Amino acid sequence: MHTIRLLYVSTAASTLAYQDLVALLRAATQRNEASDITGLLVYGSGLFLQALEGDRAVVNRLYNRIVVDARHTDCTLLLAESIERRAFADWSMKLIGLDDMPTAKRRAVLLRYGGAQHFNPYNISAGQALGFLRDLAESERQSASRAA
Ligand SMILES: Cc1cc2nc3c(=O)[nH]c(=O)nc-3n(C[C@H](O)[C@H](O)[C@H](O)COP(=O)(O)O)c2cc1C
Repeated sequence: MHTIRLLYVSTAASTLAYQDLVALLRAATQRNEASDITGLLVYGSGLFLQALEGDRAVVNRLYNRIVVDARHTDCTLLLAESIERRAFADWSMKLIGLDDMPTAKRRAVLLRYGGAQHFNPYNISAGQALGFLRDLAESERQSASRAA
């Protein structure tokens, strides 16, 4: 067993509706749970940024399926690295919608990573993408613990 983290960005198909996204997430979470994959899926301005963590062979097989999925296009690999510990171990998959986030919060997190006001992970470095995801995960944990 050799654990890796993979990050990629893609463009949602124009036909993808919110209900499709909910169904996609539900199926992905179940499959990931069965194969010890964890991660985060960020959706904003018609783009996806996803982190997948798990066994190297399993993550590679999954990524190969994801790349040919017609629900998005232009999959671009940002990072694939061996890791000692997972950053998103809390979630088999978690969807974070940037479009529903309060504008000030979204602006602040976007400006911190890449300096753009609009979500465009095609234009940021792998380090910035990972920092951005870690930051979103942390605020998700904080709001979950506030709600508990
Ligand atoms: C943006 C996006 C993210 C996805 N994330 C996952 C995921 O985390 N886990 C997963 O099993 N499938 C995910 N899928 C679905 C896969 O592409 C694929 O449909 C699924 O693994 C089933 O494989 P199959 O269609 O070859 O049977 C994702 C699809 C898209 C478009």
